[in-house]
Amino acid sequence: MKTPHCHDVLVIGSGAAGMTVALELADKYQIALISKSAIQSGSTWYAQGGIAAVFDTEDSIESHVEDTLEAGAGLCHEDAVRFTVENGPDAIRWLVKQGVQFTRNEDNVDYHLTREGGHSHRRILHTADATGKEVSSSLADRVLQHPNIQVFPSHVVVDLITQADRGSSRMRCTGAYVLDNEQDCVRVFQAKAVVLATGGASKAYLYSTNPDGATGDGIAVAWRRGCRVANMEFNQFHPTCLYHPNAKAFLVTEALRGEGAYLTLANGARFMDKFHPKAELAPRDIVARAIDFEMKRLGIDCVYLDISHRPKEFLKNHFPTVMAQCLKYGIDITKEAIPVVPAAHYTCGGIVVNQKGQTDLWNLYAIGETAFTGLHGANRMASNSLVECVVYGHSAASAIRESIESIPEPDKARPWDESRVTHSDEDVVIAHNWDELRRFMWDYVGIVRTRKRLARAHHRVKLLQKEIHEYYSNYKISRDLLELRNLVLVAELIIRSAEQRKESRGLHYTLDYPDLSTVAKDTIMVPINFAGQNFIVSKR
Ligand code: FAD
Ligand code: SIN
Repeated sequence: MKTPHCHDVLVIGSGAAGMTVALELADKYQIALISKSAIQSGSTWYAQGGIAAVFDTEDSIESHVEDTLEAGAGLCHEDAVRFTVENGPDAIRWLVKQGVQFTRNEDNVDYHLTREGGHSHRRILHTADATGKEVSSSLADRVLQHPNIQVFPSHVVVDLITQADRGSSRMRCTGAYVLDNEQDCVRVFQAKAVVLATGGASKAYLYSTNPDGATGDGIAVAWRRGCRVANMEFNQFHPTCLYHPNAKAFLVTEALRGEGAYLTLANGARFMDKFHPKAELAPRDIVARAIDFEMKRLGIDCVYLDISHRPKEFLKNHFPTVMAQCLKYGIDITKEAIPVVPAAHYTCGGIVVNQKGQTDLWNLYAIGETAFTGLHGANRMASNSLVECVVYGHSAASAIRESIESIPEPDKARPWDESRVTHSDEDVVIAHNWDELRRFMWDYVGIVRTRKRLARAHHRVKLLQKEIHEYYSNYKISRDLLELRNLVLVAELIIRSAEQRKESRGLHYTLDYPDLSTVAKDTIMVPINFAGQNFIVSKR
């Protein structure tokens, strides 16, 4: 039997959220930081536009709060919004302390602030158009140098370990079963506190801007252990993903529109002013829906994003990544428009947490895209995600610091039992079900929904779940199988949440209920084994 790994804190996920909490705790505690691929493989690395925070003298906290509330279509929790926005400038200063270098103005003194959809001021700090790469590598450098952080790449969480608290019936989280993908064995990780920072679930859709690992694992493992999950119907579609047969998934940052790019049809005609007074800078849900509408109305494969009217030098300095990537496919953005389509981008819902990142299960925290803090409401405003990762990374760290000394060592967990499973001889089942799931989610649970489409999706997801459950029970696990098992569960939560919402609000648009209901309500899904920690969730 393999010896369990024992640490003070187990952090699952090495994106902005996971690395923040790990760094904040490491001076005092022993941390295990695990990631299912390389340390820099999450969405954080791919972030382009930047991080929203109030730095302009003309801007104000109140204005950032108001814009976020407006983008969230009446469903943001105002206390979560205020908490994030007020702590935003400190989050930026903390990142700078970790070595992050944001682009500055020509005077080389102030930060250059760009604009994105929904923001009424310039308030996006960025590192050209590769902000995520800068954040991710600066934090990873710190993490890898820290003697108290042990990093485990290629380790995939299978499920959480829980035990009853001594002297009470309350369950607490004490670790996780983790597949070591290189050694092909399941290891036990034990800790006094466990943090899920596993990112989003946009890979539930056929077309997505996200890296392959965005399969909602954190949401699925937390749900299986009794945690509530909220607002899963609000999956955000980014309006502008490069449309090219050889480009797998490349986002064309919204900052292009912030710096004056137009959305056009093939003949160069703009169309966004028909849909919203802010035209190209309308909130993202509106822009994505407008593109979808035009594509369906005209039967076209894509629309175009044109920034060729801006000086070449400016484009070279501000958008080197977009420029180089487009050139790879023969598109010169200084001379021609970029073909674009919407793609699944961000999971606004997630594991229900309070302002400290605490979930329903004692000693289990969730931060970053996997969590539902109430910040994003029915539609996340651009660049409000990375700031949330850092702000809640800090608040979870202080909650853990306050409680960890009084938490007893976990009991020894049972080892993983593989005695009743064999090697599969039919891996095609996994590949087939992956494709089927992502295709029907795209077709039936996408930008525009109907009752009938959702019912079809519901029927199919149930069939797939049965098949995948049987497969999981009989065969040895692999990363692909674990991801599929999680994704099919998350897809079911998305579909059920969408079916419950009998209105159109933010990212959830249905032809059967096109109007906004007078009451704004979260969709909170409660598992049958609800773990029931009674913390106060933030208020709208
Ligand atoms: P991630 O960075 O996604 O990291 C998740 C981590 O969890 C990874 O290390 C992964 O390996 C690990 N993991 C997952 N499942 C498991 C498992 N089962 N076992 C072990 N490890 C696991 N937001 C902004 O605010 N501004 C932007 O400009 C911006 N641009 C974006 C551009 C793109 C192309 C994309 C995809 C997203 C963008 N976003 C942006 C959104 C933002 O990047 C993400 O929401 C944010 O980075 C999420 O950070 P995270 O730490 O929660 O998760
Ligand atoms: C982008 O750069 O367009 C992405 C910004 C975000 O998702 O917040």
